[in-house]
Amino acid sequence: LNIAVLISGGGSNLKALIDATSEPGFPARIAVVGSDTEAPGLAHAEAAGIPTFVVRPADSDTREEWGQLLAAAIQEHGVGTGPEPSLVVSAGLMRILPPGFVRLFSPALINTHPALLPNFPGAHAVRDALAAGAAETGVTVHVIDEGVDTGPVLRQRSVVVRDGETEDELHERIKQLERPLLVDVVRDIATGDLNLPQSAE
Ligand code: GRF
Repeated sequence: LNIAVLISGGGSNLKALIDATSEPGFPARIAVVGSDTEAPGLAHAEAAGIPTFVVRPADSDTREEWGQLLAAAIQEHGVGTGPEPSLVVSAGLMRILPPGFVRLFSPALINTHPALLPNFPGAHAVRDALAAGAAETGVTVHVIDEGVDTGPVLRQRSVVVRDGETEDELHERIKQLERPLLVDVVRDIATGDLNLPQSAE
């Protein structure tokens, strides 16, 4: 299974995927890591000798055009083309992927989100869960459809929210579950133990 990983930040989830796919016998390989910006996490890919690219929204006139350039950069590395099965993993990409891009790759297009969807969608899930006084929250790995954080849920893990903890403390505790969950989901997709549901038409 050829994987493209999309990030915008530090890439600790990417690093977990790099470590897992480096193990002999892991049934998937990361062909390319891309970002919408000079994400610090790209250094993990560079250190592992994995090709990277940056496709900036500012370089495109429309979101759709950005999506087309992003798709082309992914396909240049053999993901989403040819006979090999492919998977695009959004792991901390802080951009909404446009419909044309989603239609090209979904359902082999997954995202990890730091909340128990459908609760707390959007870009501030951890902060929103704290602000809502949620007793528990967690992480969701789901197929990306044309909505925002609305695609079919693949797997979830929950954490109990601790009194007085900060957004960063809670987010790090969520990530401690998120990293192995994402690796497990990718492995199970690669082996066929997890089937990717066609999004409801
Ligand atoms: C992850 O918690 C992901 O769910 C969210 O952004 C965070 C990225 O963390 N969308 P990292 O860059 O993988 O450390």
